[in-house]
Amino acid sequence: MTPRVVVDGGRLLGRLDELARVTATPGRGVTREAWGPHDVAARDLVAGWMSRSGLAPEVDAAANLIGRSPGQEGRWLASGSHLDTVVHGGPLDGVYGVVAALEAASSLHDVGHTMAHGLLVAAFANEEGARGTAGMTGSYGCIGALDAGWLDEVDDDGVSVRQRIADAGGDPGHIAAAQWPVDQIDAFVELHIEQGPVLDRAGARIGVVTGITGRQALDLHVVGAANHAGTTPMDLRHDALAAAAEIVLAIEGLPRSGGIRVATCGHIGAVPNVRNVVPGDVTLGVELRDQSTAAIDAAMRELEAILDRVADLRRVTIVKEWGQRVPPRLAATHIAASVRRAATENDLAFVELPSGAGHDAQVIAEAVPIGMIFVPSIGGLSHAPDERTEPSDLVAGAQVLLDTLLDLDRPRGER
Ligand code: HGY
Ligand code: MN
Ligand code: MN
Repeated sequence: MTPRVVVDGGRLLGRLDELARVTATPGRGVTREAWGPHDVAARDLVAGWMSRSGLAPEVDAAANLIGRSPGQEGRWLASGSHLDTVVHGGPLDGVYGVVAALEAASSLHDVGHTMAHGLLVAAFANEEGARGTAGMTGSYGCIGALDAGWLDEVDDDGVSVRQRIADAGGDPGHIAAAQWPVDQIDAFVELHIEQGPVLDRAGARIGVVTGITGRQALDLHVVGAANHAGTTPMDLRHDALAAAAEIVLAIEGLPRSGGIRVATCGHIGAVPNVRNVVPGDVTLGVELRDQSTAAIDAAMRELEAILDRVADLRRVTIVKEWGQRVPPRLAATHIAASVRRAATENDLAFVELPSGAGHDAQVIAEAVPIGMIFVPSIGGLSHAPDERTEPSDLVAGAQVLLDTLLDLDRPRGER
């Protein structure tokens, strides 16, 4: 029997600490907006570790960092996540899945274990959707779905995605080169913090992810009329911000009618945003999430009716632009079975659960069978500076990832 390969917990935690220091907002959480200097610095750090772990690192046309075991001609197993963060995010969202995939490669390399499959470790670009862009840019590039229209979209600063990718070392003129040979990849497994309270509450150490939530973005532009806050009588106003307030609360109320799991208005911009002017112009960034496409569609229809009502009542114009839709995806049952076996072998209590957050895995799922592994988030906290997981859980999750990959490396009949 081949001896068990064990991850190096100290190395894993040390790398996570080192990456947590690569932030634009020291002392106020981790901020690595995609394609920016801190994101690129983190990517360079990981590329160096890849080289030391026997992987050949490459920044692809979509500005993803991809490390491959060299000399492989046959079939592949892939793992990874993202290095970018939300503004004032935490030290684990995304980066943990990259560092743990790298740890799998490093520990195999340490003991000279060669898998039957080649190992591909990915750090996908712009999972979070930096500066108002559509997220998962890099993973869409890997499945050949990052098209010219998307590359020409501009971010909140008026800079195109094409330019951002070029500035970060990608090659948007040859974006098709980022596409993976998906028919040669047997599985993509992403390890991630749960970012919710389920595992923490259940006292479980591992989450076996059954599927990943779908997500529909919506941009709203509420147009009223700016006017003097002292002289404009209340009944003659076209107050875009007051209308937006009604919309925000109606969105919050959508899940109460039972149709949709969660609905959020996370972004608001008011113009001119001055105390003594009736607001004339407001933009809202909205998203709806559910495991079912039908539920998302139903909530979209309900929201459209609400917008018509508010526009009428408040005498404003509401322009809506339905944005990115990332469909819900199920994990492959045989990969989930490998994760369960790995958790059991390591004596770790697990629960099965769907992911409420979006992940690159759901994009890769359009072309390759996927699975996901979660570790607990203390207090269910994420997308916030205090995002934490017990170090022992981080190490355990990395071991489960490695054992899952080793399980998937065996022919199906031998698992
Ligand atoms: O927002 C999300 O679900 C993910 O963190 N990108
Ligand atoms: Mn995130
Ligand atoms: Mn993430």
